[in-house]
Amino acid sequence: MPNRYQCNYVNNPQCIGGCNRDDRHKIAESDVCSITSSVFDGLPIRCVGEWAEKKIYLLTQYFGIFAQGMSIKWKGKINYIEICSGPGKCVNRSERTEFDGTALSIVNRDEFKYVNKALFFDINELVVSTLNQRLSSINAINAKAFIGDYTNPETICSVLRTELSRDSLNLVVIDPTDCSVPFDSIACIKRTIPRMDLLINVAVGTDYNRNIRNTLLQPAQYTRTIQKYCSFLGDNHFYERIHKNDSDKDLRRAFLSSYEQKLNSIGFAFFANESVENYYYILFASQSQKGLEFWNKATKYDYVGQGSLF
Ligand SMILES: C[S@@+](CC[C@H](N)C(=O)[O-])C[C@H]1O[C@@H](n2cnc3c(N)ncnc32)[C@H](O)[C@@H]1O
Repeated sequence: MPNRYQCNYVNNPQCIGGCNRDDRHKIAESDVCSITSSVFDGLPIRCVGEWAEKKIYLLTQYFGIFAQGMSIKWKGKINYIEICSGPGKCVNRSERTEFDGTALSIVNRDEFKYVNKALFFDINELVVSTLNQRLSSINAINAKAFIGDYTNPETICSVLRTELSRDSLNLVVIDPTDCSVPFDSIACIKRTIPRMDLLINVAVGTDYNRNIRNTLLQPAQYTRTIQKYCSFLGDNHFYERIHKNDSDKDLRRAFLSSYEQKLNSIGFAFFANESVENYYYILFASQSQKGLEFWNKATKYDYVGQGSLF
């Protein structure tokens, strides 16, 4: 169990543990388990692999350093926005332990006192209503979850426009399970709240790794997947840069660097990324050098307290 990460760990004896992909398909629609619920509040919980904890650790570390570091200059104008929020509690199917997901981990941090508003979005109604119940139960009056679909950015941007001022400073976290967030949605969010740092989960180890070579070897059979990656990157130039004989590592690198280039075209200037096991990368993008300094500080120690190896 991590020792640098406090997020209300508790055993969840109802969790049957070890479910594989097929089991999860049957008993956990959208990964919300239908068998067990939270031992804290009896509400739905999200089934996750053990690597989720590293992701939550990274996001909360960055959030803490960012919110504290900006709290004087941006007093009363710092917002936290999370797309793909989940219901707020997760259960680790390997260890059958329950813990706070990204949303509750952020709201429960001391540095949350610097936040003006926290807005959470998810496409799933049950997830949104569950998270709202949890936010109410801890009296997080400046935090609210909304139904929002990242493939239809207006469902998110219309709320941002109503709730936030354009001159605010924002941390936007996007945590999807695959590479299906259209670049146009990121651009729409950036236009709506121009001062933003971005942390996005890029699923290059799972979705992309499984499919990218097939899209090069059998493009006619993988047109939808090609479209998905081009939509994620915002254009199809990426396919001019890669070749079917490239190594897996080079294909992953090319994808991330194409994404950074595209983010650069809408105003992000500083980038970094951190891998979470072999599953995905958390990509960081900021307009300011200060943001990168915060990120480097946040990633100096990994979530079991050891210095970074790289
Ligand atoms: C990886 S989970 C999020 C986990 C959460 N951030 C945490 O760590 O506690 C991905 C979430 O994305 C949501 N989702 C899937 N498609 C979406 C879409 N098009 N727009 C918004 N949310 C979506 C799912 O309902 C799910 O809750």
